[in-house]
Amino acid sequence: METTGPWTRAAAAAGLLIDGEARPTVFARMSAKAAETGALNLGQGFPDDAPPAVVADAAVAAIRAGQNQYPPGLGESVLREAIAEHQSQWYGLRWDPASEVLVTTGATEALAATILALVEPGDEVVTLEPFYDQYAAIIALAGGVHRTVPITSRTGDDGDLVLDVAEADLRAAFSDRTRLVLVNTPHNPTGLMLWVGALQAIVDEAAAHDAIIVTDEVYEHLTFGPAHLPIATLPGAKDRTVSISSAGKTFSVTGWKIGWITARPELITAIMSLKQWLTYSSGAPFQPAVAAGLTMPTSAFHDLAQDLRERRDLLTDGLRSIGFRVSVPEAGYFAVADAAPFGETDAADLCERLPGEAGVVGIPLSAFYRDGQAGEASSYLRLAFCKSRATIEQSLERLETWAAPRR
Ligand SMILES: Cc1ncc(COP(=O)(O)O)c(C=O)c1O
Repeated sequence: METTGPWTRAAAAAGLLIDGEARPTVFARMSAKAAETGALNLGQGFPDDAPPAVVADAAVAAIRAGQNQYPPGLGESVLREAIAEHQSQWYGLRWDPASEVLVTTGATEALAATILALVEPGDEVVTLEPFYDQYAAIIALAGGVHRTVPITSRTGDDGDLVLDVAEADLRAAFSDRTRLVLVNTPHNPTGLMLWVGALQAIVDEAAAHDAIIVTDEVYEHLTFGPAHLPIATLPGAKDRTVSISSAGKTFSVTGWKIGWITARPELITAIMSLKQWLTYSSGAPFQPAVAAGLTMPTSAFHDLAQDLRERRDLLTDGLRSIGFRVSVPEAGYFAVADAAPFGETDAADLCERLPGEAGVVGIPLSAFYRDGQAGEASSYLRLAFCKSRATIEQSLERLETWAAPRR
């Protein structure tokens, strides 16, 4: 069968096919490289941790109890109720589990169904840049126009890398063609959390341009300082916001692909109308297990974040003492390290060589920018600390050996 030509024009037009091959995600390519070379994988963001016992046990019990067939399209009621309860308990947001909550196949499907349901060709979609790479692919499939707001970087007084977003840049990204603003906080790849002023500016601009806010909050519980502030809690935001999260990161179950959306009923119905033709439903036995996770005591969530925070410190302290300029993230799975102190100005090239030269895999930050837009971030790498302490310690030893003759 032909791999290029008129049959595959739609995927090619959205930039998803290159020379007849599926454009590989940088994560899959780098994980393959880690497997090939035996390098330690600080690239792809999947944790080494086991899920909390209560979550794993509930999944096993559900399978044994025969909960293995199609669940309802909106999701099992036990999970929808747990999601509504979680939103109320943690954030004071009240949602009707029957009409304002939708379970999805990970945040990935939630994002795809939301963008495809709400964006028409020519509509503008605003995201931060760098951005989680799925956003650009789905915006392109929907025929949307991707506008971005730069995350800027500078050196702080202590020599660390400080990442930020300027309110003026946020406001300037909106126009009368803006249909949707996609807010990712806590942010992948930088671990940045948007401060309340930035969030309020987004709400104000969205209201002024009658745009919908979509918020990707998959790292909501993995915060190391101030708690996550959902944009839907800001005055005037809830009715125009589609909030998306998932179980993968919080409970260390990235392979389960259980996500969810909360939004007002007409938005849920529109997104559901799309979702039902994508997957219809998913993960029957995992749904009650995620419900068990969401109803864990708050202290259990704090323990998960604290454990991750220690590994963040291990990685960032280690990278700093090796000689990288580092950004210490406030949340999430990843730290950003600048390789420029070692004369490495192109992290994409460095990440190709690093598995062989150092036995460590990282992801160039440029993978999270539109082509050619990385600018000052071209020498930055994203390194995951959701790995075991032993993996992080060994990676640091290897990076030290790599760095020593280059200092
Ligand atoms: C910002 C962000 N959004 C969405 C996803 C996808 O989430 P899920 O695995 O639940 O589909 C990820 C996974 O890496 C992510 O980092």
